[in-house]
Amino acid sequence: MNGKIPHIIQYQGSKRLLAPQILQYMPHKFNRLLEPFAGMAAITIAAAKEKRAEQYYINDINEPIVRILQAVVNNPAELVKKYTKIWEKQFEYPGGHLEHFYHVRNCFNEGEQTAENMLYLLARCVKGAVRYGKNGKFNQSPDKRRHGTNPQNIAENVYAIYVLLKGKAIFSAVDYHHVFEMARHGDLVYMDPPYQGVSNRKDNRYFAGVNFDDFSNSIEILNQKGVDYIISYDGECGDKEYGNDLPQSLKCTKFLLNAGLSTQATLLGKRNTTFEALYVSENLAGTFCYAPRQMSLIECAG
Ligand SMILES: C[S@@+](CC[C@H](N)C(=O)[O-])C[C@H]1O[C@@H](n2cnc3c(N)ncnc32)[C@H](O)[C@@H]1O
Repeated sequence: MNGKIPHIIQYQGSKRLLAPQILQYMPHKFNRLLEPFAGMAAITIAAAKEKRAEQYYINDINEPIVRILQAVVNNPAELVKKYTKIWEKQFEYPGGHLEHFYHVRNCFNEGEQTAENMLYLLARCVKGAVRYGKNGKFNQSPDKRRHGTNPQNIAENVYAIYVLLKGKAIFSAVDYHHVFEMARHGDLVYMDPPYQGVSNRKDNRYFAGVNFDDFSNSIEILNQKGVDYIISYDGECGDKEYGNDLPQSLKCTKFLLNAGLSTQATLLGKRNTTFEALYVSENLAGTFCYAPRQMSLIECAG
């Protein structure tokens, strides 16, 4: 893949760095790419850069997140203008930039869940990690050392993504099951559900929906319809494995992608590589197992 893949903002769990590896498991051309757990849609953006699909279906249950991507594609100038206004305000806000963050967060929690407010909160909060409390309010803290991505950087990326997705993207903010229902033969579904450890917590309205058994059973719907799919789902680091494997009855092939050195292990003085699991549907894995690209596969353990 040539050149950098544009991205709007840091988003926890983003697959931007793994995108070149993940795209190797996709066909060169297909009708639609469906992303039911899109987040900041790193894989959609990377696939659009290579013109792999005719159309891109971007979905995430967190509606304000989808609003950001929708604004990028439908009205990039307005998004950049509004973000710039909010971002600049933090430097003149009475009480300082942290108070300004809390002010925007309050507005968001009082109902102003606009694309620009969500974008600013993501830009300024710790690790770009969306967190909601039991009461459904956004409760992530500001990163005290940073002021958030500057508007020029945002603008460059927003316009780059706009060019890639203009006229080709469809958006929704529904539970992933609904996206499965509209998937059809010829589509490719890329799924990146929240990590299993995160999903099991019941304290977060946006993450409450991905139960392991339910997810595994729902994938069977795609098998029955003959829809190709790829799933990023947990992985391993050192001798530690994260999450359960998807059931063998689904007949997917599991690959491990090299996600680089674990920062956590490095802090503890160890040099452990993190591997992220990638499950590829039966039909799709069949087309790749004998292809020259297999050279780049780290492991085929299906
Ligand atoms: C790991 S993140 C995806 C990150 C994405 N691949 C990227 O590169 O930015 C998982 C996403 O799934 C969404 N999500 C959680 N439960 C969902 C559900 N039941 N249906 C649809 N989306 C859901 C979350 O809001 C979150 O944005």
